[in-house]
Amino acid sequence: MRGVNDPSTLPVVLRDRQPRDLPTLTRWLSDPGVEWRRWDAPYFPAATTNETLRAYVEHLGQTAPDADERVIDVDGECVGMVNRSEEPPEGGGWWDLGILIYDPAAWGGGTGTRALALWVADTFEWTDAHVVTVSTWSGNERMIRAARRLGFRECARVREAYVVEGERMDSVKLDLLRAEWEAH
Ligand SMILES: CC(C)(COP(=O)(O)OP(=O)(O)OC[C@H]1O[C@@H](n2cnc3c(N)ncnc32)[C@H](O)[C@@H]1OP(=O)(O)O)[C@@H](O)C(=O)NCCC(=O)NCCS
Repeated sequence: MRGVNDPSTLPVVLRDRQPRDLPTLTRWLSDPGVEWRRWDAPYFPAATTNETLRAYVEHLGQTAPDADERVIDVDGECVGMVNRSEEPPEGGGWWDLGILIYDPAAWGGGTGTRALALWVADTFEWTDAHVVTVSTWSGNERMIRAARRLGFRECARVREAYVVEGERMDSVKLDLLRAEWEAH
């Protein structure tokens, strides 16, 4: 399903992680063969990503939900996560946003655009962000298009910075100012 006319009508909410989400999260984060890993920072060596994800699953099981990391919920089910981190210096007003929907069957139907819109709104509401960014690579057209649709603009491109499946790809960053979002 491509080119959803109005993702804002989809039943997508962002919420705190709950204990009942852990089996789903563990399953999607622990399987090295899942499709999402071909799209989310695929230029890192698999062994490094395996170790990062192993530590992350452990962290999820041991920590309370965090305001900077929320579950994407569709009809009561956890389908992915959003996160954000402040770029240094603290209080400088620049936050980088991340998004991941685990199941490829859920891609291309507007869920990512809707979840990212909710995450941008949440970030501007609950942080002092002046500008938000999304960081990706040139092959991830779904990510770039979802961000552009919300008003993000390309602000940086490092050409041929990464190797993905033997091919040189660009590092791409898109930005969105608070004032642009409020006028949107
Ligand atoms: C990136 C991601 C969050 C986007 O969410 P999504 O629900 O798939 O995206 P949407 O359906 O909301 O929008 C995708 C856009 O890409 C387009 N698109 C859909 N399928 C596409 C495809 N196969 N190729 C290119 N563009 C595609 C859609 O038409 C839409 O653009 P439009 O609004 O201009 O028509 C999701 O695909 C995902 O989690 N992927 C795996 C992990 C990942 O890449 N995370 C981001 C790392 S930086």
